[in-house]
Amino acid sequence: MTTRRSILAAMGLAPVLAATGAGAHSAFFAPTGTLREAAERRGRYFGAALRPEFLSDERLRRAVLGDCGSLTPEIHLKWDALRPTPDQWTTQPVEELLDFAARHDLTVRGHALLWPQSTPAWAARDIGRQGWSVIEAHFDGVFARFGDRIHDWDVVNEPVGDDGGLRPNLFHRAVGPDYVERALRAARERSATARLVVNDYGLEYDNPVEARRREGLLALVRDLRRQGAPLDAVGLQAHLDLSKGPLKAEILKPFLRRLADEGVEILITELDVKEAALDGGAAARDQRVSDAVDRYLELALAEPAVKGVTTWGLSDRHSWLQSDGAADLNRGLPYDAALNPKPMRDAIQARLAA
Ligand code: G3I
Repeated sequence: MTTRRSILAAMGLAPVLAATGAGAHSAFFAPTGTLREAAERRGRYFGAALRPEFLSDERLRRAVLGDCGSLTPEIHLKWDALRPTPDQWTTQPVEELLDFAARHDLTVRGHALLWPQSTPAWAARDIGRQGWSVIEAHFDGVFARFGDRIHDWDVVNEPVGDDGGLRPNLFHRAVGPDYVERALRAARERSATARLVVNDYGLEYDNPVEARRREGLLALVRDLRRQGAPLDAVGLQAHLDLSKGPLKAEILKPFLRRLADEGVEILITELDVKEAALDGGAAARDQRVSDAVDRYLELALAEPAVKGVTTWGLSDRHSWLQSDGAADLNRGLPYDAALNPKPMRDAIQARLAA
């Protein structure tokens, strides 16, 4: 039988890691073992986003089983993927991922119940006409199918606009500004114990837009908590971008502390790195990516409210950033396109273990 232990042995993980050479920071911590183990030893989790069809790649499957304690369906739990037309539920890919997770003792994050970008046209039209009841019906359908197996939900994805206010999206237009609170309450009615999350992006860097986005998210969390809404955690997507300048302690640390002070947990939900330049060859690029991740996790994991880290994919071969018009494969995930671990993986391991 294939077990995590046999897979790790087959991967020869420790020698491979030694051979790839970690950056100075992670060599200092002398990482050994898996990302899952490093996280769990500190009471956290490590996971990755995944499309189930990628699991037919044996090398990816091994990396997933070696390093992940948690999986996030990258696409298939979204409304448009699950229910492309009103009379068609496409649940097979999610079922496949849930079966795989159950067989290998992995938890699954539910991503995402409400996201305008993944709302099918028919549902957007119905929400415009009939309002809240369409959202309730969607939640009924999703929780009836998966609520017994998924206990961690991104209930609302990307509600904050670049001006710091609520994004004037289709839910806001049809239901009003309390749609986030209503969505959280509706999720709680259908699951008494799930961790309910609001997930957003663009919160890491020192620029005016992201400063407004941070204040906007903090204000939303504060309002929701004061209204008694069942918000358990905030998801920080953490799509890092090397063109946006350095990550600064004086920006990130107080932001995370203020979020934690509102009484919520913090999850890093979609970590990856968009490269700014492709010069210097693979080794130099991998080092820049690793340094950014090392710095981000140094700052983020100093905050005890941060309970877990998910990367948005595990391998550059399977990254959404590939389709970003880059001339070369983006190298912003822990494994390269041939599924060799990179310095980014060592940096994550060292920071999880530190
Ligand atoms: O599979 C079809 C393929 O058959 C078709 O030929 C092709 C034509 O465009 O589309 C393919 O589906 C695409 C799918 O990715 C797989 O590549 C969808 O169009 C495309 O919309 C989908 O994009 C995903 C996107 O969310 C929308 O669901 C990305 O993979 C996924 O990484 C991205 O994830 C989001 C998070 O949910 C929220 N935060 C940002 C993050 C990155 O954008």
